[in-house]
Amino acid sequence: MNTLAVFLIVVVAVATAAPSSILVDEDPMPVTTVTTCGGYVNSSSAAINFQLGGAIPAGQVCLWTVQAPYDAIRFNLKESGLGMGDNLKLTRFIGATPGYQYNVTEVGANYTYTAGTVLVTLEAGASSTMGFSLEMYSSGDLDAGGGGFTHYSTHLEASGATAYPGNGQPYRDNEIAVIIVSPSEAGSRTLTFTGMDVEGSTGCIYDSVEVFAWEMGGLSSKARVCGSELPPPTVLDSGLGIIIFKTDSSVTAGGFAFNWM
Ligand SMILES: *[C@@H]1O[C@H](CO)[C@@H](O)[C@H](O)[C@H]1NC(C)=O
Ligand SMILES: *[C@@H]1O[C@H](CO)[C@@H](O)[C@H](O)[C@H]1NC(C)=O
Ligand SMILES: *[C@@H]1O[C@H](CO)[C@@H](O)[C@H](O)[C@H]1NC(C)=O
Repeated sequence: MNTLAVFLIVVVAVATAAPSSILVDEDPMPVTTVTTCGGYVNSSSAAINFQLGGAIPAGQVCLWTVQAPYDAIRFNLKESGLGMGDNLKLTRFIGATPGYQYNVTEVGANYTYTAGTVLVTLEAGASSTMGFSLEMYSSGDLDAGGGGFTHYSTHLEASGATAYPGNGQPYRDNEIAVIIVSPSEAGSRTLTFTGMDVEGSTGCIYDSVEVFAWEMGGLSSKARVCGSELPPPTVLDSGLGIIIFKTDSSVTAGGFAFNWM
């Protein structure tokens, strides 16, 4: 073990033991800028500048997952060309469990969380509108509870198929894997599982695959399964779906596969 490793362990131990004195200020300016429709934003601060000054196609959905290192998280809408029919939302997503939501509507207002992870979702309405700039700053103490996904991927293709782990190996213990289906071309999709090999149990209390659809402005659980039971085909009205795979500390199996079109 080198000195850096020892130092890091000491820092983590202090940060998780009790409220510590290691408090970090916000960055003066966002250190990361994201302009894509969706993605994984892993930074102490960031600006999500999506189609700023440009048009957003009707029905477009985008999902960004924000992972900040510190536990005081502040979002601030700097500029917005969004209209009444558009929904820009924040959803608490600690441990990949959907939680408290904000509707981000007011330019200049602060929307705060006391821990990460946070999903940022845009659902454009029926008519074409202009983009926005949303800034995120984190500060305070190290956020021990956030992140920790064993896998995170976003699929932007209009249709496709994927498998997890998909590398010929079984999945691992203590996984939290998050797979986002977010076609960059607007419109509803149907998500169909083609394979399931996950440790089975009554109530799927050990390992589970849960399918969420983004509908009515939030994440709606459509199915939660394990064993070899295929979830029913799920209609993703907005096109946006999230597959969350959680496993416990023992017994692994082959995983699962699905497609969307
Ligand atoms: C997020 O950033 C931190 C610090 O740079 C890094 O240690 C960590 O591996 C990153 N996590 C992911 C999932 O990329
Ligand atoms: C947010 O918007 C939804 C409609 O998309 C509405 O049902 C909900 O009440 C709003 N929440 C708040 C806190 O204003
Ligand atoms: C938002 O938070 C920042 C940083 O704490 C503060 O400077 C600003 O005044 C707040 N804005 C509002 C409208 O409360």
